[in-house]
Amino acid sequence: MSAALAGLAPHAARLAAARIPDLVAADSERAARALRVGPLYANFARQKTDAEAAAALTALAREADVAGALRALVDGAMVNPSERRPALHTALRSDLGDSDTARDAHAQAVAARARMLELIAELEASEVTDIVNVGIGGSDLGPRLVVDALGDVATGRFRVHFLSNVDGSAAQRLIRELDPARTAVVLVSKSFGTQETLLNGRILKDWLGGGERLYAVSANVPKAEAFGVAAERVLPMWDWVGGRYSLWSAVGFAIALAIGSDGFERLLAGAASMDAHVLEAPLEENLPVQHALHVIWNRNGLGYPTHAVLPYDERLALLPAYLQQLVMESLGKRVARDGSAIDHATVPVLWGGAGTNSQHSFFQALHQGTDVIPCDFIGTAVPAHDYADNHRALLANLLAQTEAFANGADVDDPQKVYPGGRPSTLILLETLSPESLGALIAMYEHSVYVQSVLWGINAFDQWGVELGKKIAGELLPALESGEGAQLDPVTAALIVEIRRRG
Ligand code: F6P
Repeated sequence: MSAALAGLAPHAARLAAARIPDLVAADSERAARALRVGPLYANFARQKTDAEAAAALTALAREADVAGALRALVDGAMVNPSERRPALHTALRSDLGDSDTARDAHAQAVAARARMLELIAELEASEVTDIVNVGIGGSDLGPRLVVDALGDVATGRFRVHFLSNVDGSAAQRLIRELDPARTAVVLVSKSFGTQETLLNGRILKDWLGGGERLYAVSANVPKAEAFGVAAERVLPMWDWVGGRYSLWSAVGFAIALAIGSDGFERLLAGAASMDAHVLEAPLEENLPVQHALHVIWNRNGLGYPTHAVLPYDERLALLPAYLQQLVMESLGKRVARDGSAIDHATVPVLWGGAGTNSQHSFFQALHQGTDVIPCDFIGTAVPAHDYADNHRALLANLLAQTEAFANGADVDDPQKVYPGGRPSTLILLETLSPESLGALIAMYEHSVYVQSVLWGINAFDQWGVELGKKIAGELLPALESGEGAQLDPVTAALIVEIRRRG
């Protein structure tokens, strides 16, 4: 694989100093060439590639049998070998898997959704006005993003809140606003062993005064029941769905409570359309594949260390935070699937923020800093408000920034030179709807998987998060008593300082 990535080097050498406007001018169709997939439009014209580099990248995908790998994913092959599991998030929304494993997963997902809809109907018929989703990582970020993004289509029946951080201030601040008699709490944890969720869950269970309005979503049903959630209020999850890929399951309970069961089905339908596309479209026209190839190009070809996601839509302000987990927990790996060392870079640091606010904070570094930072700009053509002047200004800024990044500006004063050559992809949604958001998120999921195939790594495990959890568990007694066997000397000194102040 790394030999194949090394094959990008001559193209990178040819293009490293190329000017993006010259690349655009060299091909009369390039500016308007785009991929259109359902509600998504994606334009890669301002990436630093030419026809030869694009062909080399697509050849890379062909040689790595990306199409076969995508089929294997959807069919439920064991794509997560270190945990000996498939990753069947596609079965949560599509019936495209051609195996008993995938069909069985889909049937379980449909049954769980039916059960979730019954619980929603019960809650809708109750006095409950507020829902608190208690979870962290994949049990928080996806539902939080979608609920925030789709506020315009919310039914308005419930106010939905999220509690994730183990910092007690978060719980304290939240429950100050709420009435326990009118609040239902959903504990979302695939493992039901996550420290943050269990501690916050205990606070909220006590605050509710019992388990009557306590719900859970978990792959560990016995643990949820042992915690005090009645069996009939526990919705299932499965080990064949990764936490960061799980918003389409009952982990999306909060989403369905916010936007209704129809809205939730529309979200799944949007993702399902992307599943069909990624399986069927030729590599050259395959949006997640092309997105992934441009990430690979910027990382391994041109050597750029980070990647920014810049939604020009306030409703997608949480998208960068969501993608940080999806992308960096999936692709932050340094060994191959079989455990052997790899000799090429993997995930770029993903970061970002909503425009236009970001223009007034970190864009200076994007324009004139010493690192080139490739960007995904995401915009919405039709807004859901009536402030036409604002929307025109938003789009003008989006277009201006992509142009300035790519083309730069040469002036006499070195302080005022914009070097340009900052590549970006523009993704445009017609409107922000459940369908388009579902398609957008699924696009990123598939892009991540394709990147993992090209890098030869496992996108579905996350062993790197375990060490800190283990050490934190061991430090709890030392923080309480000041004593702990074999403490690291720096940690021991810090504990002394903390305890002196506490
Ligand atoms: O610590 C990382 C992680 O395991 C994530 O992968 C996961 O999304 C999150 O913790 C929460 O896990 P759970 O849903 O099991 O509480």
